Amino acid sequence: MSSILNVALPKGRLGEKVYDMFEKAGFPCPSIKENNRKLIFENKEVGVRYFWVKPSDVAIYVERGAADIGVAGKDILLEYNPEVYELLDLDIGKCHMAVAAKADFVDDRSKTLVVATKFANIAKSYYAKRGREIDVIHLNGSIELAPILNLSDVIVDIVETGATLKENKLEVVEKFLPISARLIANKANFKFKSEIIEKITAQLKEQTEKKND
Ligand code: PRP
Repeated sequence: MSSILNVALPKGRLGEKVYDMFEKAGFPCPSIKENNRKLIFENKEVGVRYFWVKPSDVAIYVERGAADIGVAGKDILLEYNPEVYELLDLDIGKCHMAVAAKADFVDDRSKTLVVATKFANIAKSYYAKRGREIDVIHLNGSIELAPILNLSDVIVDIVETGATLKENKLEVVEKFLPISARLIANKANFKFKSEIIEKITAQLKEQTEKKND
């Protein structure tokens, strides 16, 4: 087992914030900021290797042990329920899971509700709790198009600023689940690398606590 710590970072804006937190925690790898095509960056001196992963794939890398730890949204963890340890709420990447629809939408409970979403399991569980029969259309992005083109009655999607809904003349029906980025760890690798993982977790925790002071 290599002693370097493998860290899966979510590629994109959230990933840059996450990297900054890891850097502050004492695990810098400055070359990561220089090259935007390369996917793997290593700093042997501090014993860390970062890789940029599509945000929705981070949990797969960690669950399978290709990464020891990683950062994934609570939305992904709830949707796919991966076998990983959830170590810490990083208090960034904050948004909500919400139901949204066209402004004139009225739910006709005599009909099956058609729901477009990337999060089929979250949507199913939300409507099951409410005893509402639904038909899920699984899409991979630009979910907001579905009600506009009458592909679905509503969407279940992430709302952060609300700008995407507004630009597409959709409205929130209900915000039902707060989401944020979580530090996760592979269960087996955690045992072998517990010292460094616990050290990082404690330092990241300190940063989130300071922010909320
Ligand atoms: C997410 C989400 C919404 C948007 C919400 O999409 O699916 O479309 O962000 O953010 P806002 O409330 O700040 O406008 P993402 O950017 O991940 O792209 P996607 O359409 O490919 O899912």
